[in-house]
Amino acid sequence: MPSDAEEEYLFKVVIIGESAVGKSNLLSRYARDEFNLHSKATIGVEFQTQTLDIDGKEVKAQIWDTAGQERFRAVTSAYYRGAFGALVVYDISRRSTFDSVSRWLHELTTHSDTTVARMLVGNKCDLANIREVSVEEGKSLAEAEGMFFIETSALDSTNVKTAFEIVIKEIY
Ligand code: GTP
Ligand code: MG
Repeated sequence: MPSDAEEEYLFKVVIIGESAVGKSNLLSRYARDEFNLHSKATIGVEFQTQTLDIDGKEVKAQIWDTAGQERFRAVTSAYYRGAFGALVVYDISRRSTFDSVSRWLHELTTHSDTTVARMLVGNKCDLANIREVSVEEGKSLAEAEGMFFIETSALDSTNVKTAFEIVIKEIY
């Protein structure tokens, strides 16, 4: 039973980026340690709540995942409302997904109602052999936009936990 002395924190974090960059698999890897090689495109919105311990305090992150495809997206403003953190994801093996990051950042800025802790995430770093976006390009875009930067792999788990937890700790 939580005592009066224990405060509870609940933070909303959103994941955005083009279709098939791996948003849903990053979330399932983080929340359930699951990966799906044949996952279907997300329709509408899904979320998972994850509990973390930060400095001895119980912190809950409600992480929202939506469709990268316009036609499958739900009401945009509702998705961003109340979000304190965002993971903006591209696929290091598909340059077009990196090129569209600025569009996603613009949408985030337009619809968010507070300051948002933002992480630029270059996912699928296990596909380094077919890389189309260098680490340096990711880093410099993040720097220019004042965001954190990390490369991840939902497939082999590289940096997945770190990506979410840096954002959540920054909010906290
Ligand atoms: P939408 O829901 O359409 O916006 O796509 P999404 O961004 O949620 O992508 P999803 O997680 O469904 O992944 C798309 C495809 O990429 C799937 O076939 C995944 O198995 C694959 N994938 C996701 N993450 C990785 C990764 O880190 N490495 C590799 N090699 N494949 C990945
Ligand atoms: Mg998805």
